[in-house]
Amino acid sequence: MSTFNINLHEAVYSLSNALDLVGVTHIHHGKRVAYIAAECGKQFGWTEQCLDDLFQAAILHDCGVSKTAVHARLAQFEWEQDSEHCQIGAELLANCSLLAHLSDVILHHHTCWSVLKDVDIDMQLKLIANCIYLAERVDVLSLIYLVDQANLLLNRQTIIDNIVENCGELFCPELVAAFMEIAESSLFWLLLESGDTSGYTSTWQAYIPNRRIEFVDLKSLVQIFSHIVDAKSPFTKEHSDGVANLAKFLGERLELSEESCEMLELSGLLHDIGKLRVPSELLEKEGKLTAEEYLIVQKHSFDTYDILKNINGLEKITEWAAQHHERLDGKGYHLQISNGSLSLEARIVAVADVFQALAQNRPYRNALNVDAIMAILKQQADEGQLDATIVLCVENNLHACLRAAYCQ
Ligand SMILES: [Fe+2]
Ligand SMILES: [Fe+2]
Ligand SMILES: [Fe+2]
Repeated sequence: MSTFNINLHEAVYSLSNALDLVGVTHIHHGKRVAYIAAECGKQFGWTEQCLDDLFQAAILHDCGVSKTAVHARLAQFEWEQDSEHCQIGAELLANCSLLAHLSDVILHHHTCWSVLKDVDIDMQLKLIANCIYLAERVDVLSLIYLVDQANLLLNRQTIIDNIVENCGELFCPELVAAFMEIAESSLFWLLLESGDTSGYTSTWQAYIPNRRIEFVDLKSLVQIFSHIVDAKSPFTKEHSDGVANLAKFLGERLELSEESCEMLELSGLLHDIGKLRVPSELLEKEGKLTAEEYLIVQKHSFDTYDILKNINGLEKITEWAAQHHERLDGKGYHLQISNGSLSLEARIVAVADVFQALAQNRPYRNALNVDAIMAILKQQADEGQLDATIVLCVENNLHACLRAAYCQ
């Protein structure tokens, strides 16, 4: 099994960047909440390890949200009654070997302290969850003033009063006390107002060195995000898993190395991560997309590159994933590179993507049967779009490909 030399913070940060852009109303919510929560945690005197857990969980706290409409509600308090995204997020983390220890934090990041204090989990996890709850409310309240271009510093007392009013019921009194201390600092509010918490997050990224991460662990991390993308629309359920499975299968049939096959699997999982930035209504539109809408949807392959480009150690995976809509005749997108410049692996991901998509229902058509899928793949190979050798490999293993694409 392969190992990858990466910085876990860098990977979590970059992938969470995609989450922050699900909606346009509340950009960088995850990072801002992480900043506020970490300031509270520091004031509380938590250990480095604890602060690290807090920051990581805070950056990912809304990972259970992938639909644009749901994301828009993040800025409303009624949201606090909605525990669905807490459960979805907790399940996503529970299945990731690197982050499973923070699953309960995500589950309880909207649980009132009056209830949470009696829940049977580790006290430190309760405090981290409640700290994120408090930080989230501070950010949502701040947003009201930021949207109106008003001065956050001038209005800070209203925000502080709101937190104090909920002391004991929603928030742990000791955490409220820690927040009151940091809220005295003008710098705290100015940084929040400027939106410039990037220095804060880059320090956090540099806090741990690169380390070798095993394929299965990295895969479980990447699957958090591929499941978020696939959950955006009922039509794309398990699309990324299917593309990953099929790309790996084709790599094996074409006798690529074990390492390349595992990298192909990760590329398949990540290829559509840029779709997190595409509004849900476009992904689910029944009619034909307008020219403008089509351009917005097409941008997702560039966004896949944009989201992954800063994860050192994943360069090849990023390249193969981001080139899944390139075509041999140079008429794909977003680079319009052609034959000689497209690696075999990028061509495999492209074929796997077309195959899996054709095997699924879409808003504008039903799933196709294997014969119809094969006819389209052959036609695209004849037209010089898809690689004929890979398409032949599909033809020779047609039913096994279908099982792989359906993850059976
Ligand atoms: Fe939340
Ligand atoms: Fe795509
Ligand atoms: Fe795709």
